[in-house]
Amino acid sequence: MNFNQKNYDISDLIVRDMKQRDIASVLNIEREVYPFPWSEKILADLFYFGLESEVHHSTVIDGGDKSSIIHGYSFWQMIVDECYILNFAISQKFQRNGLGSFFLEKILEEANQIGAQRATLEVRIGNKPAIGLYEKFGFSVIAMRKDYYVDNGKKEDALIMWLQNL
Ligand SMILES: CC(C)(COP(=O)(O)OP(=O)(O)OC[C@H]1O[C@@H](n2cnc3c(N)ncnc32)[C@H](O)[C@@H]1OP(=O)(O)O)[C@@H](O)C(=O)NCCC(=O)NCCS
Repeated sequence: MNFNQKNYDISDLIVRDMKQRDIASVLNIEREVYPFPWSEKILADLFYFGLESEVHHSTVIDGGDKSSIIHGYSFWQMIVDECYILNFAISQKFQRNGLGSFFLEKILEEANQIGAQRATLEVRIGNKPAIGLYEKFGFSVIAMRKDYYVDNGKKEDALIMWLQNL
């Protein structure tokens, strides 16, 4: 896959493993982009799982030498030969410039290099930007989990999306 980037010079950006010092930036983005963000403890636990096991992965996209700003992050797991994306986000101010596509492509490449043959994730049925991104990569909806998300008593269905043949 090779996506053209719009209005953004990605040549300085670096996709790398998350470090402990990134957690505060990851938490800021999490709070910025999700109405019901995961807590700092959940994010930190996922990061530490990644240090301890080959299954859990924590990845960030940062600005490189010119700015070490964290532009986005992802937590993902290897389940045998599947890449399961638990969380994937781009900071609000950097959205709609091709970064999500660039970042997702890098993660899927890395997963493929360590044995992933396919990829899967859950997404809120109302999350049109994310569904659009995943469809662009060839993900398709294989099932729906009714009322999977419950936030302050409000329920939302989850779509289970699947990418066969990485
Ligand atoms: C989903 C997300 C990662 C996309 O990041 P991004 O950097 O804006 O993505 P890109 O610029 O690479 O766009 C890729 C595609 O996503 C879709 N898309 C992105 N933003 C969109 C929007 N606001 N409305 C509709 N489609 C959108 C489009 O299909 C787009 O392709 P196009 O540019 O050819 O139209 C970003 O919106 C985000 O972080 N959202 C909040 C966190 C989230 O919901 N994560 C997914 C959890 S499952």
